[in-house]
Amino acid sequence: MKTTEQFPKNFLWGASSSAFQIEGGWEEDGKGMTVADYNSVKRSGRQADSKVASDFYHHWREDIALMKELGIQIYRFSIAWARILPDGEGRINQAGIDFYNKVIDGLLEYNIQPVVTLYHFDLPYALVEKYNGWADRRCVDAFERYAKVCFSEFGDRVKYWQAINEQNLMIRVDERMNIKESDAWRADKLRAQMDYHMFLAHALATKACHDIGKGMKIGPAVSSTCTYPLTNKPEDVWAARMNDYMKTVYCLDMHYYGKYPGYYMRYLKERDIVPAMQDSDKEILKAGRMDYIAVNYYRTLCASYLPADEGHPVGMREFRGNEVDFDQYGYCRDEKNTNLKASEYGAQIDPMGLRIVLNDYYSRYQLPLLITENGLGAADVLTEEEKIHDYYRIDYLRTHIKACALAIEDGVELMGYSPWSFMDLLSSHQGFAKRYGFVYVNREDMDQKDLRRIKKDSFFWYQNVIRTNGEKL
Ligand code: BG6
Repeated sequence: MKTTEQFPKNFLWGASSSAFQIEGGWEEDGKGMTVADYNSVKRSGRQADSKVASDFYHHWREDIALMKELGIQIYRFSIAWARILPDGEGRINQAGIDFYNKVIDGLLEYNIQPVVTLYHFDLPYALVEKYNGWADRRCVDAFERYAKVCFSEFGDRVKYWQAINEQNLMIRVDERMNIKESDAWRADKLRAQMDYHMFLAHALATKACHDIGKGMKIGPAVSSTCTYPLTNKPEDVWAARMNDYMKTVYCLDMHYYGKYPGYYMRYLKERDIVPAMQDSDKEILKAGRMDYIAVNYYRTLCASYLPADEGHPVGMREFRGNEVDFDQYGYCRDEKNTNLKASEYGAQIDPMGLRIVLNDYYSRYQLPLLITENGLGAADVLTEEEKIHDYYRIDYLRTHIKACALAIEDGVELMGYSPWSFMDLLSSHQGFAKRYGFVYVNREDMDQKDLRRIKKDSFFWYQNVIRTNGEKL
């Protein structure tokens, strides 16, 4: 069977990270606090926090040299909004601009293309204090300004941008949105408004990107998955489909068509949470069509239909958890897929799911795709000989790269593969013990040790994958 020899010559091999998860230097050189800092520092004492993280802020030169050694052609990272605009909207912090200029120039010196996300879970905390963040339309203006500053300062060297990382996931995590409503309906109403404001912000940033840049491309980074029905009962099939539609596809449709799909509008109306909109928004949303889709993919889900009844009335968040009440009839309920193995952190590992997702998105929008996250979180062990034998990560990446090759054969326009993560970093909510990197960072949750960088077995394996353009897996 043909596998990987069909990676195109210009296929982009990369690795990824995000600001609050690697940088540290959380208050240095004028940086403002962010929601991500606030939440991670709350957990200090039990887990590592963003104050130091992987300390990229002080190790960037050494880390970029390791990227060169790894051979990556793109590095996907995020800019901390609060390093550029400490209070989110006012004074520009020149030290922040200088830092990212050094990083971008350092990458380009080694022919590594920077691929930049503007906002990766780290809203400046000042905007939360002033406006309750995305609840207020002024946050949209703040984001547009921030995006314009970045395009003007860095656009001469950065071609590929993502406006917002995983809006579709972030909106469901209350602490990232600062949603503190205990009443389920009020929380959902606020959530819908915040979501809508982020769509507007995304569209305005997209327009600014096209206006300011010569040939710059921008798109959303989407938390991507597909949900399998537990059985072939039509209700289960519909529930599984709605799980994807209500969590992901509606979001992509907004970025493409500039309006909510019918089923989502119906949900908003029936729940009585249609966000406040202005007439001029329609034009803004239409003019902000994404250029490509950045795909973050880790696992698939499985679901069954759970009818609404007295014990499970629609709209009661207590029953929802990861579940979606997809219309007035009921919920889709998360199920275990007995055909798949799970990672030690419970993610159902499924390379075929990646092929499905890539085909699905491509056939829907016919836009280029770029994988900006894919990887395995594990508690790696450093041996006495200073080695990390992460064969399980190699297995995971190998099978997912094969799935990419097959998707390309299927006709999908896949620009590149940038797995998560270049180096060990702070997990989005599980501290430092859960590692994803090609490069081990010598620290523990509660002990910063010497932050020494050590190449894992997967580093050498991936180096060879890149060198052979995916032929040697
Ligand atoms: C993605 C995020 O959802 O998943 C990353 O964009 C995150 O920021 C990654 O780190 C892995 O999730 P976690 O929770 O294991 O860190």
